[in-house]
Amino acid sequence: MNGNIKNILNKKNKSKLVCLTAYSKNIASILDNHCDIILVGDSLGSVLYNYKSTKEVTLDTMINHSKSVRLGVKKSLMVVDMPFNTYRNPKEALKNAKLVIKKTKCDAVKLEGGKKIISIVKKLVKNKIPVMGHLGILPQTDKKFTFKGKKSLERNRILKEAKLLEAAGIFSIVLECIEIKLSKVITNKLTIPTIGIGSSANCDGQVLVIDDLIGLSESKFRFVKKYVNMSKIINIAVKKYKFEVLKKKFPNSKHSFKN
Ligand code: KIV
Repeated sequence: MNGNIKNILNKKNKSKLVCLTAYSKNIASILDNHCDIILVGDSLGSVLYNYKSTKEVTLDTMINHSKSVRLGVKKSLMVVDMPFNTYRNPKEALKNAKLVIKKTKCDAVKLEGGKKIISIVKKLVKNKIPVMGHLGILPQTDKKFTFKGKKSLERNRILKEAKLLEAAGIFSIVLECIEIKLSKVITNKLTIPTIGIGSSANCDGQVLVIDDLIGLSESKFRFVKKYVNMSKIINIAVKKYKFEVLKKKFPNSKHSFKN
C-alpha cells in the first residue's frame, strides 16, 4: 500500500485530515507544506473555465492540470478526479484511470457515486488503483445542489452506499453537503476517513476549493470560508505596477542589464 495512504488511514480518530484542491504547480507547492491530500478536482471546470457544470470537463484537461500539480506536490497524497463519462463501466474506468495515473503520476483517483459505481470501484481496486469515493451532492450528475440527508429514506441510502463503497475498497470518502448528524453516523460507522465539504466538523477531515479559501473566486456556498482576499492583494500590486510603468519608475537600473 502507498505509504501516504497508510498514513491517511492511520489518522482516523487521531488527527483531522487537511485537504485542498489545486489546479497548478505554484499553488500546489504552497499547499504541499500543509496538506495531507491535494485534490485536482474537476471543480476546475467552473472555477477556471466558467463551465456551467463539471460535465464539460474532459480527461485531457484533468491530465494537463494534474501534470502541473504533480510538479508542486512532493509530500501530500495527490488525488485526481475522474471526470464525467470517463468511468461508465469497469473496463472504461480501468483504461482511463490507468491513463491518468501513467500520465500524471498521481497517487489515487476520485469517483462520484454510490451503488452504481460499486463494480467499477472493485475493478480499479483489484488492479491496485487507490480510489477515493464521493457521496452527498454529486456535481457530475445532480441537477439540484441541495443539502443531502434531510429525509430518512435519503439518509439510509447514503449510509448504505458509504458502507458499500468501503466494502468495495475505497481508502477514504468525500462527503459533500451532508446533514450534520448523518456525517457523524457515517464517520463513526466507517473505518476509513471521511472528508467533508459543507458536511460539518463531524468528518475526519475537511476539503475546500483553494480559490474560494484565498478569495480568488466568489463562491455562493455558505460553507465556504474566505481566509484571505487575494483578489484585493493582487489588485493593489498590479495597480502599483501600472503606476510605476506609466511614470517610468519601473524598470529602474536595478531591474535592467548593462554591458
Ligand atoms: O471537484 C472538486 O473540487 C471536489 C471537491 C470540492 C471535493 O470534488
